[in-house]
Amino acid sequence: MTRILIVNPQAPEPDLIAEAAAVIRAGGLVAFPTETVYGLGANALDPEAVASIFVAKERPTEDPLIVHLASVDDLPRVVRQIPETARQLAQAFWPGPLTIIFPRHDDLPRGVTAGLDTVAVRVPSHPVAIALLQASGVPIAAPSANRFGFTSPTAARHVFTDLEGRIDMILDGGSPTIGVESTVLDISVLPARILRPGGVSREALQGVLGKVDVFDGTAAEVEKKPLPSPGMMSRHYAPRATLILFQGADTQAVIQRMRQEAELYLQQGERVGVLVAEEDQIAFTGSGAAVKSIGSAGDALQIARNLYAGLRGLDESGMDVILARDFGVEGLGLAILDRLQRAASRLVQVESSS
Ligand code: TXA
Ligand code: MG
Repeated sequence: MTRILIVNPQAPEPDLIAEAAAVIRAGGLVAFPTETVYGLGANALDPEAVASIFVAKERPTEDPLIVHLASVDDLPRVVRQIPETARQLAQAFWPGPLTIIFPRHDDLPRGVTAGLDTVAVRVPSHPVAIALLQASGVPIAAPSANRFGFTSPTAARHVFTDLEGRIDMILDGGSPTIGVESTVLDISVLPARILRPGGVSREALQGVLGKVDVFDGTAAEVEKKPLPSPGMMSRHYAPRATLILFQGADTQAVIQRMRQEAELYLQQGERVGVLVAEEDQIAFTGSGAAVKSIGSAGDALQIARNLYAGLRGLDESGMDVILARDFGVEGLGLAILDRLQRAASRLVQVESSS
């Protein structure tokens, strides 16, 4: 049985948080909101609790987890050493959507880090996450609270759909403000390297660190190199429908091409959904495709916030094919592009029409 507790996202009720914290301390699983996506939390210092995360999610055990802390002061409980760069980054971005890779503490259960000598850590900013961490008094290991391979949850309802009956509790604190996962950053190399683009942009990191690289997981896979971040296989975050991603600098040309492809699929009797910006909707009126707007194209935060719910929504309404477009690579655009690429079965590069 999975209990759902509705909490005030800004000022979580202490008695409800105490109930959730008791579940964590007893070795149970609690899904909770963070500013990025919902996490599936367990006591990071309890090997059995950590193991049960993998069972509930059907997640491969070689995919390491992120450890969440109430404060930067708790770092020595889970890491062996704190590089100066990490202190600077923590100062600038914690609490917030940045995950930093550290040398792991010897006492941390092996299951958390999937046998790696490093551990991924972040201090979340969501009031419910902070309250839960404080009340539990332990570091909380938490992957996104979805079944493995599916889209991350940005509503308690998404968690319930994926994990009902498999976890003890869901804290329902509404929708996260960012909507895509944290940025995962490797600071053991120079320049530091983004392993997963996310809530903290490359530009913001560069403001603190100077040059920052972005690791291209797709290229490494093609070359069969070992991945620095084992969980990052390219097909991930996938809806059930076939997702086709249209990319190109000329938005008009991209939209026109999407409309053509939508018509082709519709003629074949497929159910077609398009995931687009408000401004793009008009191009699909009368096309017969289901149109889902996820916000204004110029507002990457709004697009990020609505992205996963948009994908899930089209999926749940039974689409066979979903057509989506990119929103550039600046700011949150890079994380949006990364998730769409990982979810896509096919990429269509659209050349400018002029
Ligand atoms: O925003 C987020 O990061 C959310 C919320 C709940 O905090 N969590 C999340 O966790 O997205 P998960 O497990 O879905 O993604 C964690 C990513 C994985 O891709 C994993 O490969 C990477 O972090 N990771 C974890 N430990 C690592 C390590 N030691 N070295 C490199 N990558 C690591
Ligand atoms: Mg995940």
